[in-house]
Amino acid sequence: MVKTTKSANLLFDGKNFDLPMKSPSIGPDVIDIGKLYNEADIFTFDPGFTSTASCESSITYIDGDKGELLYRGYPIDQLAEKSHFLEVCYLLLYGELPTSPQLNDFENRVTMHTMVHEQMHNLFRGFRRDAHPMAIMVGVVGAMSAFYHDSTDINDQMQREISSIRMIAKVPTIAAMAYKYSIGQPYVYPRNDLDYASNFLRMCFSVPAQEYEPNPILSRAMDRIFTLHADHEQNASTSTVRLAGSSGANPFACIAAGIACLWGPAHGGANQACLEMLHEIGSLDRIPEYINRAKDKDDPFRLMGFGHRVYKNFDPRAKVMKESADEVLELLGIENNEILQIAKELERIALEDEYFIEKKLYPNVDFYSGIILDAMGFPTSMFTPIFALSRTVGWISQWKEMIADPVQKIGRPRQLYSGPVERDYIKLENR
Ligand code: SDX
Repeated sequence: MVKTTKSANLLFDGKNFDLPMKSPSIGPDVIDIGKLYNEADIFTFDPGFTSTASCESSITYIDGDKGELLYRGYPIDQLAEKSHFLEVCYLLLYGELPTSPQLNDFENRVTMHTMVHEQMHNLFRGFRRDAHPMAIMVGVVGAMSAFYHDSTDINDQMQREISSIRMIAKVPTIAAMAYKYSIGQPYVYPRNDLDYASNFLRMCFSVPAQEYEPNPILSRAMDRIFTLHADHEQNASTSTVRLAGSSGANPFACIAAGIACLWGPAHGGANQACLEMLHEIGSLDRIPEYINRAKDKDDPFRLMGFGHRVYKNFDPRAKVMKESADEVLELLGIENNEILQIAKELERIALEDEYFIEKKLYPNVDFYSGIILDAMGFPTSMFTPIFALSRTVGWISQWKEMIADPVQKIGRPRQLYSGPVERDYIKLENR
């Protein structure tokens, strides 16, 4: 799909360098600087990769100005409305929407792998009860490489396939076990007769004394949250997974690295931080105080759930999430939920404020997701584990694409060195 079309000319130090350019199927052209250092003995400099494409990918495309998100070319709002998470997993992994037999086979393969090795239960007991579930997920997902040796050889296509299915199937079970462990309740085993989202809700909320009957509307909302978070181009955690994978690390270790990166409040931890911020604001009349703090250069406070590296318009996922929030809260009879009112008023005021308009700061995927998860009964500490559960298929799809990329090599950025030039050692007595 990608063609080398024209070239860019760099005039440096009196010399001309022709740099080949590649044109994508959609989006900006790129300048291939792969040979720049060898030919011109210079590096490019782009901290945070604001203008740098790290790879070629055909999985997800974001148009930040239009507020568009495509999974393998399909708009996210269509998939959120018409598809369901395991079908979206198939699409992200294999590139096309499945036929009915393909979907049934895929769903059966995932269903047959939802249980974890019984000895993994012992891993949880090594954590304090008040450990953050993300700490447990980083550890337990990483430890999967110690249990599933038959799917760690990245050069074996079949093993890559099995490890992919195992992670998509088992991460919800691990997330639910982390939750149960944190509240001192017994683990709930997955059931093969439930769909993916209902299974996860039941593993979280069922207790031996009281069976949990998944409410179809809550299961649908949970499934939609999974779909909305499934993949998102080369975000920080996906880039972490790709970089870890470029060294040949096993897939479980790579996904554990992605979970660790996602945990940060600037990334996947924002949904927890956002709901905690809304609770801290506490009432409509305190919103202006927080808007002013967000605008104050000397105040590190940022409006959690607002802003995005790529979206300079509405995050299309936030729109779907907002509709879902209204639906779920109405179903639960808490449509007058004060937190939701604060969120909506905060959004309205921020979107009228010169600072947010000028900096093109809009609500992102994390702004409303926490309100839904809170209403469903999840503690804020489970918000990011649910994001990680959803993003596992995106990380794996990107990891598989990287492994199969013929030009793939170990990722090894260079630097702009600003340290001391060479100097001789000084004996202690002479310092
Ligand atoms: C996710 O990359 C992805 O795709 C991520 C994600 C995915 O699906 O994987 O979409 C998931 O991580 C969503 C983002 C969740 N994070 C938050 O909600 C945390 C709050 N947002 C900010 O931390 C920030 O907006 C980022 C980290 C999301 C984006 O940061 P950038 O692109 O590096 O932008 P920036 O920090 O350079 O901000 C640009 C300007 C700055 O002002 P100036 O220095 O130019 O004067 O906007 C300001 C910032 O101070 N700004 C904010 C703000 N976000 C940016 N000011 C107040 N509140 C905010 N939330």
